[in-house]
Amino acid sequence: MTPPSALSSSDARRDDAGDGAFARELLQALSQRPRRISPKWFYDARGSQLFDRICELPEYYPTRTELDILRRHADEIAQRIGRGAEIVEFGAGSLVKVRLLLDALDAPRRYLPIDISGEHLEAAARQLRADHPGLAVQPVVADYTRPFALPAPLPGQGRRVGFFPGSTIGNFEPEEALTFLRQAARLLRGGGLLLGVDLVKRPALLHAAYNDAQGVTAAFNLNLLARANAELGADFDLSAFDHAAFYNAPLHRIEMYLQSRRAQAVKVQGRRFEFEEGETLHTEFSHKFTIEGLRALAVRAGFGIGPVWTDPERLFSVHWLPAAQ
Ligand code: AVJ
Repeated sequence: MTPPSALSSSDARRDDAGDGAFARELLQALSQRPRRISPKWFYDARGSQLFDRICELPEYYPTRTELDILRRHADEIAQRIGRGAEIVEFGAGSLVKVRLLLDALDAPRRYLPIDISGEHLEAAARQLRADHPGLAVQPVVADYTRPFALPAPLPGQGRRVGFFPGSTIGNFEPEEALTFLRQAARLLRGGGLLLGVDLVKRPALLHAAYNDAQGVTAAFNLNLLARANAELGADFDLSAFDHAAFYNAPLHRIEMYLQSRRAQAVKVQGRRFEFEEGETLHTEFSHKFTIEGLRALAVRAGFGIGPVWTDPERLFSVHWLPAAQ
């Protein structure tokens, strides 16, 4: 999941998959003001585990709500998509979600999960092949936040359909979301995108979802520093940083930071960086949308507007966005 400013277009991003990218990006993040790093670095093995735990938290409504929506409307969604479709998933997401979709579809032909990390992908592919003998599972190792190509469509197949659940699109800044959607519209021509989007809601609910009582989200955020210590020999004192997350209502987004509890210095790969008391490292945006706002963005990116499915409380939304031929 795997997400994405996330999508800074800095030179450092040009070879993410390669060694040293985390070191380069962290050093760059610490050198700039305001300090800021991509949320994609959350997702090492421990970070992915912590994210899975977040998805189970009572306060974190998005995962269970989206799953409910997908379950409840699976038949209608399958009808929109049609027979013999090819599913392109952006990020090697939760197999639970794509399985729900594949199980509902009429004879899906091929599943193309796209992810920066190949490891994730192969294990997932093996499991799916076993359960869907008629389905070609063909992982694509790529960074979907940048231009990339897909294998040629199979001859005589159904639609090519993108699947981007979890409101991961919320990690992007609006301009980046537009760039992503434009690329998706190009890749999915003649098909469409099934997009999961978290909705604007009462700030207290949003605040709770990103400040859970058990502190799992805090551990997830702080894991970035633990990872830097383990992988880069950094000396972050985890007890000297707070998890800070708040809802920026005018900008419709949760902003997440690591905040220094006191004046301190840290070392990363021999370089020394000073934090003032209260100084922050920005780690994530999680944008929330209105249905109309999301649709306007989709139209600007070249999509048409299809049905939207929501839960009774209107916490979360799943959009069908047709891509013109
Ligand atoms: C995976 C990016 C959708 O923004 O809600 C959960 C990540 N961060 N709690 C989100 C996350 C803090 C999540 N996304």
